[in-house]
Amino acid sequence: MIRIRNYSAYYTTVQGTVKAVEDVSFDIFDGEIIGIAGESGCGKSTLMKGIYGNVEIPMYVAGGSIEMEVDEAGQKRVIPGSEFRHYWWQYLSYIPQASMSVLSPVARIKHQFLDSFPSDELRARGKQALLDEVAAYLQELDLPAHVLNMYPHQLSGGMRQRVIVALATFVQPRFILADEPTTALDVVVQRGILTMLVQLQKRLQNTFVMVSHDMGVHYQITDRMVIMYAGKVVEIADTPTLFARPQHPYTEMLINSLPRLGDDTQRTGISGHPPSLLNPPSGCRFAARCPLADARCREVLPELIELEPGHFVACLKREPGYMAVPSAEGTATP
Ligand SMILES: Nc1ncnc2c1ncn2[C@@H]1O[C@H](COP(=O)(O)OP(=O)(O)OP(=O)(O)O)[C@@H](O)[C@H]1O
Ligand SMILES: [Mg+2]
Repeated sequence: MIRIRNYSAYYTTVQGTVKAVEDVSFDIFDGEIIGIAGESGCGKSTLMKGIYGNVEIPMYVAGGSIEMEVDEAGQKRVIPGSEFRHYWWQYLSYIPQASMSVLSPVARIKHQFLDSFPSDELRARGKQALLDEVAAYLQELDLPAHVLNMYPHQLSGGMRQRVIVALATFVQPRFILADEPTTALDVVVQRGILTMLVQLQKRLQNTFVMVSHDMGVHYQITDRMVIMYAGKVVEIADTPTLFARPQHPYTEMLINSLPRLGDDTQRTGISGHPPSLLNPPSGCRFAARCPLADARCREVLPELIELEPGHFVACLKREPGYMAVPSAEGTATP
């Protein structure tokens, strides 16, 4: 299990500090497929880098913690994020966004596999034995063994992405973090890769954390979802509940912007833009775009509260005992 508590991660830039992830708390449980969704720039990849424990300049941890429980020689230990890199091999693997650049253009696929093994492990297992295992594994993922002798540019986009998934999952890590694993692929290939990831997760019984801005993808494969807006978590719920009864107006908008089968009416996109993370507003970050917002929303930052077991929302209008306060522009009630 991974525990994220009051985690903030910022970037230092010449324009100032970009508060990309602000005071985020949630747990990632063993064996679940958890999805992180939200518009471009809301901090999804930054949070994933934090969960992977790969915090590099100009990013830095501005507060809070991310911890992982590991089992070492029968002993449970809690590891801080700063030490996650020692567990990258067995525990955590990461399929980064824009992962086309993960593969080196000048190395055959087999070398990319061999290079991903620590040298002592390579020596212990033997190069050829390892390559045989990799070839067998590729075949399970519908990739012909001869891709091992190919260079990345000789593979189609879909094959390349399968190879990347194979690389990230070959050692059966406990947590697989995938950042937009299917974006930029056509719908059919996308479906194939998602099916493959879900089957792998079922077989390995491990935990899969997936970032996507595509709510349709989340609906199809995730068990639970975390919705982010402008660096903050605004809603967490199991996926069926989130789609059936979204509580945050932003979640509702994300769901309503999805095309529906047999429905010819124009889907409403989300108008406006998220606020700058250089200088985010002090109240609810969604207030400027929210149809329900009133004066209080622009001043008070809503806390994430648990409405029903496992369903969390950060919206003043959903707080128990909420009372509408007339705003200067008139009253808005839900
Ligand atoms: N290396 C960096 N230096 C400075 N700012 C950065 C850096 N990487 C990301 N940011 C900023 O941090 C914020 C969050 O970015 P992040 O990449 O986490 O968003 P995202 O939700 O993954 O977006 P997308 O859906 O487009 O991938 C953005 O405002 C972005 O401009
Ligand atoms: Mg991203």
